[in-house]
Amino acid sequence: MSGAAADGKGPFPEEGQWPVLVLGGSGYVAGEMLRLIAAHPRLELAGAISTSQAGEQIAATFPHLAPAYPRQCFVTLEAAIERLGAAERSVLLSAAPHGASAEIVAQMLDAAESAGVTLTVVDASADFRFADPEAYAAVYGHPHAAPERLADFTCALPEHLKSVETPHAAHPGCFATSMLLGIVPLVATGLVDGEFYVSAVTGSTGAGRTPRDTTHHPLRHNNLFAYQALKHRHSPEVRALTEAATGRPIGLHFAPHSGPFARGIYASIFARHTGGLTTADAIEALAEFYRDAAFVRVLEDPPRMKDIVATNYAAISAAVDGDTVVVHSTVDNLVKGAAGGSIQWTNRLLGLPEHLGLTAPTAGWL
Ligand SMILES: NC(=O)c1ccc[n+]([C@@H]2O[C@H](COP(=O)([O-])OP(=O)(O)OC[C@H]3O[C@@H](n4cnc5c(N)ncnc54)[C@H](OP(=O)(O)O)[C@@H]3O)[C@@H](O)[C@H]2O)c1
Repeated sequence: MSGAAADGKGPFPEEGQWPVLVLGGSGYVAGEMLRLIAAHPRLELAGAISTSQAGEQIAATFPHLAPAYPRQCFVTLEAAIERLGAAERSVLLSAAPHGASAEIVAQMLDAAESAGVTLTVVDASADFRFADPEAYAAVYGHPHAAPERLADFTCALPEHLKSVETPHAAHPGCFATSMLLGIVPLVATGLVDGEFYVSAVTGSTGAGRTPRDTTHHPLRHNNLFAYQALKHRHSPEVRALTEAATGRPIGLHFAPHSGPFARGIYASIFARHTGGLTTADAIEALAEFYRDAAFVRVLEDPPRMKDIVATNYAAISAAVDGDTVVVHSTVDNLVKGAAGGSIQWTNRLLGLPEHLGLTAPTAGWL
């Protein structure tokens, strides 16, 4: 590999490092991707692509990242495409909005193919979550921009797929991540066969960096409200991904809520179990299902969100009373639900240990 350094100093990429381009540069998920790349022992930022901040310092948008990126600036898509040729194999992490991501990803894959280099893509947007372009169009209300590329992507939680056959991956959404972590083991082990009812609360970063009424501080702080009850677009995604992971269809009834905090999701997932289940059995079944999963902690007691926030860890637990089982599942929406999950996929697609660069604990008393 050869080429100019991304920050103008020294060879790029450094020996043994994988160059990574980040799309959606100044967004919240991209900011977390940049933070995780800076701490990753084998990934090196090749360019943070921005439609609005190209030429501006990364640290001006993300002051908390200044120690990691003291001089680097956001780049244009054109500059990033030029940089593709500098390495035999690069990674593209997309944190662009759905609808925009697929077109740019396809453009960059075309450019990599023309340059004779390999580009491995992990998309955190919704654009490669449905295998069927019609299913995507039905949920998102516009045709898919790159249907010819869909077959090259697998969408799943890494914990729910032993091996991946496609060159690229898509990460499920943040609410979907919290739900799938509880639902898939119950269905896969036959403990639940039917309908799930979910109430979940998300922090304001789930809506991205553009301010809205639902994220504006005076309206959000010390407040709690439901929205899009039984109509949220993650419901069809969770149904499809559960069926893909277990071979069994489920019913899902989901009420999302906006909570008075910036990051994290807490989901309570209710179902009728198939019989003879105790709380201890349910927790044991979850623990066994996630025995080899580095990032899923199965707890005896209900998890607390602040124990996992800003990390790639999920925490889950279960309780049973009569014929009802509830699983509590908490993740950080920006990390396990997007940027961290994308790096987990990147590690796997590159043949690196899946946990690499992702095991830092959170700070206490955030
Ligand atoms: N927030 C979450 O918790 C979360 C969780 C899971 C998945 N996701 C998904 O991750 C993606 C990013 O989410 P986010 O919360 O980071 O959103 P965000 O804060 O709104 O950031 C998205 C960024 O994408 C760039 N962008 C905007 N329009 C674009 C276009 N037409 N073409 C290319 N880039 C464009 C903008 O950055 P520049 O101006 O720098 O280009 C924007 O800041 C979305 O697809 C979202 O659904 C988000």
